[in-house]
Amino acid sequence: MTDDELLRPEVHPLVDMRHATVFRGTRPVLHDLSLVITPGRSTVILGPNGCGKSTLLKVFSRELYPVLGPDHYVRLMGRETWNVWELRTQMGIVSADVQQAYPERTPGLEIILSGFFSSLDIYDHQAISLIQRTRSYEMMKKLGIAHLRDRSFGEMSTGEQRRTLLGRALVHQPYALVLDEPTAGLDIRACFQYLEILRNFIREGGTVVLVTHHVHEIPPEVDRVVLLKHGRIMEDGSKRDILNGQNLSVLFDTPIELLHTHGWFQVRPASHD
Ligand SMILES: Nc1ncnc2c1ncn2[C@@H]1O[C@H](COP(=O)(O)OP(=O)(O)OP(=O)(O)O)[C@@H](O)[C@H]1O
Ligand SMILES: [Mg+2]
Repeated sequence: MTDDELLRPEVHPLVDMRHATVFRGTRPVLHDLSLVITPGRSTVILGPNGCGKSTLLKVFSRELYPVLGPDHYVRLMGRETWNVWELRTQMGIVSADVQQAYPERTPGLEIILSGFFSSLDIYDHQAISLIQRTRSYEMMKKLGIAHLRDRSFGEMSTGEQRRTLLGRALVHQPYALVLDEPTAGLDIRACFQYLEILRNFIREGGTVVLVTHHVHEIPPEVDRVVLLKHGRIMEDGSKRDILNGQNLSVLFDTPIELLHTHGWFQVRPASHD
């Protein structure tokens, strides 16, 4: 691979993962899993609690590593080795873990600013430009959280924290967004604002890997669906082929009816009156 190619993540799959087996504690949670996510092909991962979705995203963000083997590898944007901080400048990550780890005393605007440095807080040695400060505040306005500019993280509600972290993930215009249940705790309007921003991100060429339990929050622009069950891929393909009541009923072991309108989905129990 040439230096030039290394510097251009868009010429490689975002994720190229082969035969990954991942342990949490003493138990294997992902079993011999292979998955390729190409740039521009935003993907939603659906599956029941405990099936390994967050574990999979942690492999993408280099928080977890699969067991080693001769034909096993995880390449991110063409590379097997990454400096985690460098990787995080290419990826915006939102998850409950980031939310838990974030220091309580940091005020809203600085939380957004920390996205430029992929850090959990802002430190004295980080030189912040006026442009970064302006962009951060613009992002707060776009997300409807400008009033949280000076409020500390610990004094925000769960949904406010989540919206601020979304801003942090988006502000440095990452190449990809890795979102683990990003709307947990958001009210309806905040969900809609988030969806609009996500859709724009995809339309402008960004790639999203999304884990959600809310099928009504799958943006129409996300076409690929991966169904994960017991740490294995049950189905993988385009929405048209994969997202149906039958597959979801098998995935969640319960009768599900899927409703589809104008590119959006809804579920309800299949055995309704
Ligand atoms: N730190 C840990 N130590 C041991 N086991 C763990 C740990 N974290 C997760 N697990 C186990 O690994 C499995 C997969 O967890 P994971 O968090 O990936 O599930 P998930 O699909 O994201 O579920 P949810 O929908 O509830 O978020 C679960 O059985 C869980 O109990
Ligand atoms: Mg999870």
